[in-house]
Amino acid sequence: MATEKNTMLIFGGTGDLAYRKLAPALYNLYLEEKLPPHFSLIGIGRKEKSSAIYREELAAAIKKYSAHSWKEDLWPDLAERMEYLSCNLTDDASYQELKQELKKRSESAENHNLLFYLAVAPQLFVPIAEHLGRNQLSLSAKGWRRIMIEKPFGFDLGSARTLNDALCSAFEEQNIYRVDHYLGKEMLQNIMVIRFANAVFEPLWNNRFIEQVQISATEVEGIGDRGRYYDHAGAMRDMIQSHLMQMLAVVAMEPPFDIDPGTIRRTKVELFDAVRLWPEEDKGGNLVLGQYRGYSEEKDVAPGTKTETFAALKLAIDNKRWQGVPFYLRTGKKLQEKQAKIVIQFKTPPPVCPWLLEDDVRADGGLPPNILTLKVQPSEGVVFQFNIKKPATASEIVAVDMDFCQPCAFLINTPEAYEKLLADAFNGDLSRFSSWDEIEKAWNLIDTIFYNRQDGADQPCSYDPGSWGPEEADLMLKAAGYRWWN
Ligand SMILES: NC(=O)c1ccc[n+]([C@@H]2O[C@H](COP(=O)([O-])OP(=O)(O)OC[C@H]3O[C@@H](n4cnc5c(N)ncnc54)[C@H](OP(=O)(O)O)[C@@H]3O)[C@@H](O)[C@H]2O)c1
Repeated sequence: MATEKNTMLIFGGTGDLAYRKLAPALYNLYLEEKLPPHFSLIGIGRKEKSSAIYREELAAAIKKYSAHSWKEDLWPDLAERMEYLSCNLTDDASYQELKQELKKRSESAENHNLLFYLAVAPQLFVPIAEHLGRNQLSLSAKGWRRIMIEKPFGFDLGSARTLNDALCSAFEEQNIYRVDHYLGKEMLQNIMVIRFANAVFEPLWNNRFIEQVQISATEVEGIGDRGRYYDHAGAMRDMIQSHLMQMLAVVAMEPPFDIDPGTIRRTKVELFDAVRLWPEEDKGGNLVLGQYRGYSEEKDVAPGTKTETFAALKLAIDNKRWQGVPFYLRTGKKLQEKQAKIVIQFKTPPPVCPWLLEDDVRADGGLPPNILTLKVQPSEGVVFQFNIKKPATASEIVAVDMDFCQPCAFLINTPEAYEKLLADAFNGDLSRFSSWDEIEKAWNLIDTIFYNRQDGADQPCSYDPGSWGPEEADLMLKAAGYRWWN
């Protein structure tokens, strides 16, 4: 009987990403019966180990990291489809070996689909794509060949182009899945619905009603063991170019006229075309780079390093909807709280009732602004801050919150981003993946910012671990009359 087989190959199958994210995601998909038919996995690394040991390691990782409970009785069925292959991915002979292994598996199948997942160091991305192409592993008449590639997608525009060229010469464009795992986050997808499906938000989503927007992704952790990568990259390349630009896209893009991945991607690219650093017209500036105290003593970090572990930017969007509205982006390591969120500050209403602005009504003068907070992680939800009369006073105004907690309301564990992204790749759905055009535009912005500040090349501003970053980032907002909504 004709069969379809689906094999996923994790290049870097024994790494942190594979154990912490990919293995639990595959396990969850298995429990939810969302794995494709006749699924199997080949994990690849250089170390010698048996498949039996590999399965034990996968089981330990799944028990530790999966949101689903461990099902001892079901595990053997999944485990027996998981194997380990030791090979060096910089060596052409390894691909011949791999080809033989895959050929054996294909024999009884009419179609044998292959999903290659690149969970290795970024310097291996180009050689692997070239080897896969040269060894005819990237194209087949007998089933699809797809590749999922982790960030970082290049180090700058030039290296990103080189990587993209290598991928495109081996794989067809519709088979290249460029991962930005923020796009798999439930709340990020929800933002478009919140914006476009609510009569109280859709008409207000523009410069007539919105004063400023803040997009933050902050972490409590430092760089851990990732010094070798991080000291070369820094916060701008590691976070702003990818995750924060994607958050900016969903908040600020025009309404796409359909949900076709191509339309959504084109709409984002149009937005990125209009994004620039805010013209430097106030003394607060438009860019603050910071470094936490003690960073230069971290493992694998160069002495006297100038790499930024914090970045805050003030961006302008040069289109009719957003003219005059500053978009502040902020990310950093060793900050006070782990959170990814978007804060929309609305303009205060005109003084229709002058008594609302009297000093005895608001001691600090002025009305508190309405604030809409879209919480992306770790908590997911929406908070709307609005004004009421404080009970038991004549007319004192206080700001209060309407708080929607997504997991509380639906009593479900929202699927992990990687779970959704893997399911999408198996199903051939590109909508939650970045297109090359988006990546190119985002790099263009980052390169322009770095190019323009090259002769300065200053040491980043210092900040204390556990703080909200350097004081200069507060001053950037203060100069415009704002503050960070932490
Ligand atoms: N960790 C995360 O949460 C995370 C999140 C987002 C993106 N990423 C990206 O994902 C990629 C992997 O990150 P990671 O943290 O998982 O790295 P990692 O823990 O260092 O794992 C690297 C993996 O690659 C294998 N490997 C290295 N060189 C090889 C070679 N020449 N041939 C075959 N296998 C080789 C290693 O196995 P051997 O040692 O046995 O060779 C190991 O399985 C990186 O590009 C990273 O930037 C990671």
